[in-house]
Amino acid sequence: MGNSFLRISMFRLTLILGLCWSSLLEGALAQITRPSEVTALQAIKRSFHDTSENLHNWNHGDPCTSNWTGVLCFNMTMIDGYLHVQELRLLNMNLSGTLSPELGQLSYMQILNVMWNNITGSIPKEIGNITSLELLLLNGNQLTGSLPDEIGYLPNLDRIQVDQNQISGSIPSSFANLNKTKHFHMNNNSISGQIPPELSKLPSLVHFLLDNNNLSGYLPPEFSELPNLLILQLDNNNFEGSTIPATYSNMTKLLKMSLRNCSLQGQIPDLSGIPKLAYIDLSLNQLNGSVPQSKLSEDITTIDLSYNDLTGTIPVSFSDLPHLQKLSFANNSLSGSVPSAIWTNRTFNETDRFIVDLENNMLSNISGSLNIPPNVTIWLHGNPMCSNANLVQFCRSQDEYGNNSQILTNSSIICYSQSCPPPYEYASTSPIPCFCALPLLVGYRLKSPGFSDFIPYEHAFEEYLTSGLDLDVDQLEIDSFEWQKGPRLKMYLKLFPEYNNDSHVFNRSEVRRIMNMFTGWKIPDSDVFGPYELLSFTLLPPYLDAISTPGSGISKGALAGIVVGAIGGAITLSALVSIIIFKMHLRNRHETSKRRHSSKISIKIDGVKGFTYREMALATNNFSSSTQVGQGGYGKVYKGILADGTIVAIKRAQEGSLQGEKEFFTEIELLSRVHHRNLVSLIGYCDEEGEQMLIYEFMSNGTIRDHLSEYFLTHKLTDKSDVYSLGVVFLELLTGMQPISHGKNIVREVNIAYQSGMIFSVIDGHMGSYPSECLEKFVSLALRSCKDETDARPSMAEVVRELENIWLMMPQGDMKTTESIITDPGKVMLAASSSSATKNPFVSADVSGSDLISGVIPTITPR
Ligand SMILES: *[C@@H]1O[C@H](CO)[C@@H](O)[C@H](O)[C@H]1NC(C)=O
Ligand SMILES: *[C@@H]1O[C@H](CO)[C@@H](O)[C@H](O)[C@H]1NC(C)=O
Ligand SMILES: *[C@@H]1O[C@H](CO)[C@@H](O)[C@H](O)[C@H]1NC(C)=O
Ligand SMILES: *[C@@H]1O[C@H](CO)[C@@H](O)[C@H](O)[C@H]1NC(C)=O
Ligand SMILES: *[C@@H]1O[C@H](CO)[C@@H](O)[C@H](O)[C@H]1NC(C)=O
Ligand SMILES: *[C@@H]1O[C@H](CO)[C@@H](O)[C@H](O)[C@H]1NC(C)=O
Ligand SMILES: *[C@@H]1O[C@H](CO)[C@@H](O)[C@H](O)[C@H]1NC(C)=O
Ligand SMILES: *[C@@H]1O[C@H](CO)[C@@H](O)[C@H](O)[C@H]1NC(C)=O
Ligand SMILES: *[C@@H]1O[C@H](CO)[C@@H](O)[C@H](O)[C@H]1NC(C)=O
Ligand SMILES: *[C@@H]1O[C@H](CO)[C@@H](O)[C@H](O)[C@H]1NC(C)=O
Ligand SMILES: *[C@@H]1O[C@H](CO)[C@@H](O)[C@H](O)[C@H]1NC(C)=O
Repeated sequence: MGNSFLRISMFRLTLILGLCWSSLLEGALAQITRPSEVTALQAIKRSFHDTSENLHNWNHGDPCTSNWTGVLCFNMTMIDGYLHVQELRLLNMNLSGTLSPELGQLSYMQILNVMWNNITGSIPKEIGNITSLELLLLNGNQLTGSLPDEIGYLPNLDRIQVDQNQISGSIPSSFANLNKTKHFHMNNNSISGQIPPELSKLPSLVHFLLDNNNLSGYLPPEFSELPNLLILQLDNNNFEGSTIPATYSNMTKLLKMSLRNCSLQGQIPDLSGIPKLAYIDLSLNQLNGSVPQSKLSEDITTIDLSYNDLTGTIPVSFSDLPHLQKLSFANNSLSGSVPSAIWTNRTFNETDRFIVDLENNMLSNISGSLNIPPNVTIWLHGNPMCSNANLVQFCRSQDEYGNNSQILTNSSIICYSQSCPPPYEYASTSPIPCFCALPLLVGYRLKSPGFSDFIPYEHAFEEYLTSGLDLDVDQLEIDSFEWQKGPRLKMYLKLFPEYNNDSHVFNRSEVRRIMNMFTGWKIPDSDVFGPYELLSFTLLPPYLDAISTPGSGISKGALAGIVVGAIGGAITLSALVSIIIFKMHLRNRHETSKRRHSSKISIKIDGVKGFTYREMALATNNFSSSTQVGQGGYGKVYKGILADGTIVAIKRAQEGSLQGEKEFFTEIELLSRVHHRNLVSLIGYCDEEGEQMLIYEFMSNGTIRDHLSEYFLTHKLTDKSDVYSLGVVFLELLTGMQPISHGKNIVREVNIAYQSGMIFSVIDGHMGSYPSECLEKFVSLALRSCKDETDARPSMAEVVRELENIWLMMPQGDMKTTESIITDPGKVMLAASSSSATKNPFVSADVSGSDLISGVIPTITPR
């Protein structure tokens, strides 16, 4: 049995394509979408104007199984026989037109995301029929009309984001039913009328952002009863004649109160009893009376009471606020002396700054020390005291102060740009200098931050975001940030894969996971940073196949021209090819492992072995993240190597997915009986130490031609300029030479050697022994691919066919050496030397010591 098994396994090639796994994990879709949902999607498309043709593929096949752009589904065939639309993710697609009422037919949808388009018309009331809806994300369009009452009856709505539209009308009082809704983000519209006091009953409401609307009436005193309210932001509305309700001093959880320019009158309530209040902006109102004397929360960073009619003196309690960054009483009628303890009675670390703006008041003096610490900026221009020559140093005005945007430059190490061609770039935050990798680009904006100076919080922000994303802090680079009106803090973020020496890209499942975190608002909110907006999430071309986004303008030139030194597609591919072609050597390990394996099989369930936790930990290097190959709803999946050398995939249930023992074994029994072409088979389980794991065979199917073709297609390597690039890569692999070195062109050099029958003189010695026929065919293919005449080059299909032929001529391969390579395109990098891809990408310890068994095919050992 041994030999035939091996022969088969050679053809099977153990190329585990990420697909096989990810589909297994994420509920692969093979059935059909419920017909009413298909009809609805067609209607939805019809009512959009899709000028950029982002939805061009919404007209053939099944929405869930034919990769319709932005349609994410889940599998309920077990329950009702259908696949259902779970999410519409259509952000930034330049869609105009309107929202179709047919959206209401997508009754299983959880996320409706059409942010940042140009959609007009009103919000269809039928959205109220989507009872499973959790996130309603319509912000950044040109929607008009009023908010439909029906939305108020969505029982599962967590978040309503309709900000930056032109929505008018008032807030429906039905919204008082939204007892799961945490986030009301409706700022920058034309919403008018009274805020329904009934909203004060909302048990989950956390962020209430309705700034920049036309709200009027009064501020509901009952809002103090909101048990979870953290942010109340209503700037730029018109509550003419209303006061700030005294009850607001009882908002026990409040972090931020921003009521700028709201036409408010009366006194400022005493907010000193709000224990974690960090940010108060009551500027540009007609508040009068004196400033409350009691000491505010120690967490306070910002107090802006400018442009009011406040009188009296500046309370000395402001001298005891350790995190204060900005204190402004500008343009009021405060009098008396300024206690300099406000800035002297403070300790500053190197990033802290403190701005005290007291311009245009009636202040007559400064009490206490006249020294200004280096981190403090004081503006006292326009006060009577400025006539005192001793105090002129304080009397500067705000106009002299620049703004607060920066491009952050992190790295002083010089890396050579030619070894890291775009879109790859050096990860400046990586602990390893000059780690060249492909970032994910995120346009991100803090909508209501709890501070006014970001620099001291920058590190805390990096910690917050990366821990929320389950990444290392050095995987995040804040490329730049900018304060915008609001104030909001817009940032441009880059996320880099973790340095691990064999990959320069995130793998497919990781890309999806990170994207889902952002688009699903799964990153936990933070008190100090507040809610975020996702402005964009950009997948550079090599990542595009991670999420199917056909039509998103993949640049074809990405590969052509940068073959050399490129660690992108070209070397990924070269690694693939080099491994396929050159790293075949046979060891009989699998046979022995099989035998040993069967002797240990547990009797509990036929054919399924029980493993100990320790065995699993050993197999996965203690579940280290470098062995993780995927993540599903059930938990993480690791690639492991058992003691006998068998390579397995280990699905480890996470807390919350654990089943009862009985169910667990029922599942195992079921799986042990399933043998399906697309399913890997179960070989064991582990039910120890409170863990549940399933152990699968790590395998795949399909021919090398399928895999290569798929690879070429998904990487859009289809035209003859790509064939040329590929040919150069092949030559590099064969010779270990750089395409151009010492003024010599690799194509010419190899051609000369080939024509003079000396081809083996240029073949790299590190390659070990290979059948001469294979090498010759390979050289010939490479040279034909590099012909100057485009028409003389083979087509990509011919290249694939020829590679397959060469592959078939090779001696039998060893599963163990090839299998690790193709779990996903990122992992393919493993074979390419990591930082300098121009060096022999295939030099590898595996090759020496290869012991070819074939006695039939003659082998040669090049120079
Ligand atoms: C959906 O789930 C059913 C039952 O679990 C399974 O048979 C079917 O193959 C799945 N469909 C897809 C497309 O994965
Ligand atoms: C859809 O995408 C998946 C994974 O990217 C792929 O396996 C499948 O072939 C694609 N289907 C179609 C019809 O394009
Ligand atoms: C909306 O349309 C205008 C012009 O019609 C265009 O300038 C703008 O970029 C579009 N915005 C988006 C988000 O597509
Ligand atoms: C968006 O659509 C407008 C027309 O509606 C077009 O002029 C513009 O070029 C498009 N923008 C992009 C980025 O496709
Ligand atoms: C859908 O919404 C409409 C109007 O809001 C309502 O009349 C109808 O009963 C709803 N249909 C379902 C199935 O909930
Ligand atoms: C939320 O509202 C629903 C219906 O309006 C009600 O059944 C449920 O008890 C409410 N939950 C809470 C926590 O108030
Ligand atoms: C919101 O509206 C205000 C006032 O019109 C404007 O200054 C601000 O830029 C707007 N913000 C956004 C994010 O559109
Ligand atoms: C704050 O709450 C307490 C107890 O709940 C109450 O006695 C007090 O009157 C409230 N204060 C205001 C200003 O409403
Ligand atoms: C700051 O001033 C307050 C009184 O206003 C005093 O109680 C406190 O000890 C001072 N703190 C420091 C660090 O000097
Ligand atoms: C400086 O102080 C701020 C808070 O005031 C804190 O967040 C930050 O971590 C501190 N920085 C250093 C370097 O200690
Ligand atoms: C703040 O003061 C410290 C020492 O007092 C100094 O090292 C630091 O450079 C200052 N920071 C700024 C932003 O001025």
